[in-house]
Formats: sequence, structure tokens, C-alpha cells
Amino acid sequence: MKEKIEEIKKSAKEKIAAITSLQDLQDLKVKYLGKKGELTSILKGLGGLSAEERPKIGSMVNQVRDELEKSIENAEKAMKAKALEQRLEKEKIDVTMPSKAIKVGSVHPITQVIEEVKEIFLGMGYSVADGPEVERTYYVFDQLNTPIDHPARDLQDTFYITEDVILRTQTSSVQIRAMENQKPPIKMICPGAVYRSDTVDATHSPLFHQIEGLVVDKNITMTDLKGTLEMFAKNCLGPNTKIRFRPHHFPYTEPSAEADVSCFVCGGKGCRVCKNEGWIELLGCGMVHPKVLENCGIDPNVYSGFAFGFGVERIAMAKFGIDDMRLLFENDVRFLKQF
Ligand code: DAH
Repeated sequence: MKEKIEEIKKSAKEKIAAITSLQDLQDLKVKYLGKKGELTSILKGLGGLSAEERPKIGSMVNQVRDELEKSIENAEKAMKAKALEQRLEKEKIDVTMPSKAIKVGSVHPITQVIEEVKEIFLGMGYSVADGPEVERTYYVFDQLNTPIDHPARDLQDTFYITEDVILRTQTSSVQIRAMENQKPPIKMICPGAVYRSDTVDATHSPLFHQIEGLVVDKNITMTDLKGTLEMFAKNCLGPNTKIRFRPHHFPYTEPSAEADVSCFVCGGKGCRVCKNEGWIELLGCGMVHPKVLENCGIDPNVYSGFAFGFGVERIAMAKFGIDDMRLLFENDVRFLKQF
């Protein structure tokens, strides 16, 4: 019996030493140490031995078993280390190889303008608000003092989803959300997409962008509005920019105005960009209508405010000398990378 065990040990060791693959090693493990392996079958046969021999043979088998287990384990480790080494050798990275060129896009002109305007107003202590593009008529019209028969609510101008849910036609809806949710003082701007049922041409698109501004506090006057917008125009369009206000009408402001800026291309002399006018229409604005403040639970006898709103595309087009709005939405990289 002893000889047989020695024999098994010797042959197993030889085989382990000669092994070349992990799979073969696994097979060997089963052959010698597995449930039906050679050593196990000797253990199973221990019952047939004399009481004196049984423990000796038993301990011998266990010893050999331990020894073989260790050998197999070592062989496995060595083999894995070798495989890893080979893999690393093969996968060596050549840091001198030229890299794949990554195409980097450019910031879209509309995004550039929005970011720049945000910076200017953040610098004046404004916060930046956000609001839904699919919006209730309550926020876009009713609360903004725009009655049910107002032309802006016409089906021809507005994309209706249901009778009282639309794609917002102006960011002014966010004023209402701000005033309903915050107590004055309020100082915010809101950039975002708006939608109107317009046919696409060089100056119209059914989707465009606006930036809304709102300030509500005690003692806010038209002077604050004019000063703020002048500051904004100079920062955004150049330090020599002049601004002028013309009376206008919006249902949610009283008084209301439209503001023009001196053409920042020709300085006011008249050119292609300003269509020889010397002025470029910039935005709508006014003092928040007392009715609108009241609608939002703000006492118009204590607080007053101003608001303004302008189109981002118009500024981007003037600033970058783009004469067709469609170019901004075609997203042709050859066009966009110029800015
Ligand atoms: N909502 C106006 C528009 O779409 C722009 C505007 C005018 C916004 C006057 C205002 C405002 O906040 O006070 O043309």
C-alpha cells in the first residue's frame, strides 16, 4: 500500500512539473485529489486494513494529499503569473504612437450669447431661473393680464396642446412662477426656448430663444430699468453702445417700452446690419403692471418692479453678422465652427 501511495505521489509530481496549461492542471487535480481520484479511493478502502495499519496509511494519504495540493497551487500561481507577463508584454502601449484625433465642436452662437448675458446679470446680483416649455395658459397669459380675446392667444400664433396647455410663446411665464414662489426682493433672469406658430424664413423660426428679466422690490422705478438695460447693452454690445426707449404696449407692464440700441457695427451711421436705420430693436420692457403683482400676491402699494424680455437669435445674428436665422438651426458644422 505504501508503495502504491509513493507511486501516486511520484507520478503526480512528474506530471505537475510537465504541465503546460491551466486546463491540464485542473484535470490533474481531479484525477488525483477529486472525489473519484486515486488518493480518495485509497482512503475509501481504509476499512479493509488492519487496525494497526489504518491510521498510518490514513495519515500518509493525507500528507501526500496536502503536498500535492500545494504543488498544484504553486504550479497554478506560476502559470497565471507567466500568462499575465506574456499579456503585458503583448499589450505594451507605445506612447510614441500618434493619437486618434478627437473632433472638438464649438459653442453654438445662441449658447454663447446666453452664457454671456448670464455672466452680465449674475455680476449685477441676479439669479438664473428656469421654467417649463410646455406651459399652462394660466402662466403665459391669464396671470400676465392677457385676456382671453387677446390676439397673442390666437390659434394662429400659439401651439396649443389642449385648451389650456400650450408651448410657451414667451419666457414671461417664468416671471409669474418666480413671483408666486418667492417674496420680494426678486432679481432674476430666465433664458429659454419659446415657440410660435410662424413659418420659417430668414428672420422667423417656430422655435427661438428669449431671455426674460424681472426685478421686484420696494422703490423700483423706471430709472432702475433704464440704467440696468443701458449697463447690459454696453456690456453685451460694446462700451459705446447707446440705448433709446420708445413707448409701446404690453398687457403685463405699465408703462411699457421697446428699447433700441445704436448699431454696434456702424456706430449709428447706417449699414447693412441695421438696415441703414442706425438703430437695432433690442427688447420689450416696462414697469410690472400692478394687476400682475396683485395676481401673484404681491402688494402693488408696497412693491414695484420692472421686467424685460428679448430674443437671443436677434442678438446672436447682429453680434456675429449672421443674416439668415435658419443657419442657426441647420447645425452645419462648417458654419458653426466659424464662431
Ligand atoms: N414677452 C415679450 C415678447 O415676447 C417681451 C417682453 C416685453 C417681456 C415686456 C417683458 C416685458 O418682461 O416686460 O415680445
